[in-house]
Amino acid sequence: MLSTEQNERLTRVGKGTPMGTMMRRYWHPIALSAELPEKDGAPIVRKLLGERFVLFRDTAGRVGVMDEACLHRGASMALGRVEEGGIRCIYHGWKFSVDGDLLDTPNHPDPRVKERLKAATYPVREQSGLIWTYIGPKEKEPPFRRYAFDEAPPERRRANRVNVRANYLQVWEAGTDSSHVGILHSNVTRPGWLKAEGAQVDEFAIKDMVSDAWDDMAPKLELENTGFGYHYVGIRKIGDGQQVNVRLTPVFMPHGRMIMHPNFYATVFDVPMDDENTATFNVDASDVKELVLEERMQRSGLTDPRFYKDHTFIATEETGFYQDRAAMREKRSWSGFHGLTQEDSVVCLSMGPVFDRSNEHLVAADAGVVRLRQRLAMSLELSEGGQDPMGLQYEDMTKVKGFDRNLPASESWKLYARDHTELYPEEKF
Ligand code: FES
Ligand SMILES: [Fe+2]
Repeated sequence: MLSTEQNERLTRVGKGTPMGTMMRRYWHPIALSAELPEKDGAPIVRKLLGERFVLFRDTAGRVGVMDEACLHRGASMALGRVEEGGIRCIYHGWKFSVDGDLLDTPNHPDPRVKERLKAATYPVREQSGLIWTYIGPKEKEPPFRRYAFDEAPPERRRANRVNVRANYLQVWEAGTDSSHVGILHSNVTRPGWLKAEGAQVDEFAIKDMVSDAWDDMAPKLELENTGFGYHYVGIRKIGDGQQVNVRLTPVFMPHGRMIMHPNFYATVFDVPMDDENTATFNVDASDVKELVLEERMQRSGLTDPRFYKDHTFIATEETGFYQDRAAMREKRSWSGFHGLTQEDSVVCLSMGPVFDRSNEHLVAADAGVVRLRQRLAMSLELSEGGQDPMGLQYEDMTKVKGFDRNLPASESWKLYARDHTELYPEEKF
């Protein structure tokens, strides 16, 4: 449980709020490369931390991220013409480069204004299908991180995005909550439950998405702090308990986590668009096989147009989220939803845009969620004390990786997590 004040501290991300200030110290994904497919194509508006930005791809393919309002008199640059190395406001024709240089002012021939004024644009990096930006204080720009997925060849990588109308912490907490996986996602993780009733089972999804130890619904959780945040393991008994399945999940500031699947791993960023909306960027990468985006969308339940459109989860409570009650009754479906992301999104949405955690009742199974809040609060304290928030200076995050393996029950999983504790040791004071 959190007090209402603590809850506000952790969830509000607007400019000037404690969390908004901390978040602004990091780089964030703001769009998929696929959202700006063409040079000189239409600009787009995207929200980040409660602010609106216009993104465009210029003639040379470079991406610009700028304040939405035109520097001159505030028309939206999203209406602009993207042409010949810049974006031109349609109101009076002022034209800007991706770096904010004022290139042309057709209604004001005096060239001095071009030297004097510069549009508010932000540093951009495009990597592995994501467009990243940094909107914090200029003099404090941290190194741009590399993740393990950045090392995968393009055909073994795929990126997608889901906007959900829920505060980022709700969405992130679902990703640090091991015990829901074997319950909410029963269709995929405990197919035995379905098979017993003779239901159709998506064998491919099961093989692709989960390991074989999910029938233990009360996994033992163990946690360890690291310099990037923490990692936790869910330990599940296999058969007679001589062997256990251990699944390690790294959780890293300011909104990241990594989920291991048998043949690939997902790196997920739950980026706050504003207090009430989250853009979840998911990058899958594999060491062993090619990855097809369409397959991921199907597994996630995002090919159904009632649920997903324009990168946004659109089912709402007005339609009962299209929950399939007949399938639930007949035990063809646990949740009445199809696919992991449908299930996760619906429960996050159902909590209301910003859940008030003074109303919850935590149990031991929620240890990962509690740790997340503790680490986030610690990072916030560092930031408020004038220090760098947690993990800010890590440039190389490529060794941050989870695992999913079966071990003799007597063996310590920590041996296999040494990369984390040695390369990214917990902060000391
Ligand atoms: S408002 Fe954009 S050029 Fe005048
Ligand atoms: Fe989930």
